[in-house]
Amino acid sequence: MIKKETMIIEAINRIALDTVEMVAANPYISKTAIPGQFLHVAIQGHTLRRPISIADIDREKETVTILFKIVGSGTEQLAALSPGMTFNVLGPSGNGFNTANKDKTSVLLIGGGIGVPPLYYLGKTLADIDAEIISILGFQTKANVFYEERFRELGETYIVTDDGSYGKKGFVTDIIETVGQFDSYYTCGPLPMLKAITAMLPGTPGMISLEQRMGCGVGACMACVIPSEEPGGYKKICSDGPVFYAEEVSL
Ligand code: FES
Repeated sequence: MIKKETMIIEAINRIALDTVEMVAANPYISKTAIPGQFLHVAIQGHTLRRPISIADIDREKETVTILFKIVGSGTEQLAALSPGMTFNVLGPSGNGFNTANKDKTSVLLIGGGIGVPPLYYLGKTLADIDAEIISILGFQTKANVFYEERFRELGETYIVTDDGSYGKKGFVTDIIETVGQFDSYYTCGPLPMLKAITAMLPGTPGMISLEQRMGCGVGACMACVIPSEEPGGYKKICSDGPVFYAEEVSL
């Protein structure tokens, strides 16, 4: 259930170019959030909340990790907060990844840029049920790369950069055919990347997580709709998603 909650910042660090990792304590969210869900973060002086996906959870320490990119004054303000300070969120929001029946199967995680963070919490959850994890992570340049080591701890990991300054040069789609067999895939990243991946893997069960600027974040304002093949003709990313089965929405 989505609640209005207060997060207390425990740590905040820049971990790559314009990319901030924040660890914040909250008992309710740390106990209830599943991979793929997000926090709808309130920023003082800004009317619109910012949806930020959950990158990790530590249930014992009751902390939630989020990663965000500084893209404007709102995220800049958030990045300027310090440990001990608080901020308000609505969460855990949205529908997350379905991990049922993935135990002992082979799973491909494909993340692009700031779409990488939710796949880390997902990967950890899948590792706990003995899924074999292969990850392909795409970034613009070397300066944007983060969480490489963490993903390597989960399984085979490939890094690609647009300009070839780190890992392989190219796009995540260039690597997919080279990684061998997998039973299903999960992906999060920019829309053109998701389109290319779903077109490449039509017969493979997959789930995609969509990034979207939102209004209300709770299904009331229609600011986040996406066409769907299903009855009704559209889905709301904030409340029906942000995670969908690949065949559920028209990208
Ligand atoms: Fe308002 Fe999704 S953001 S309906």
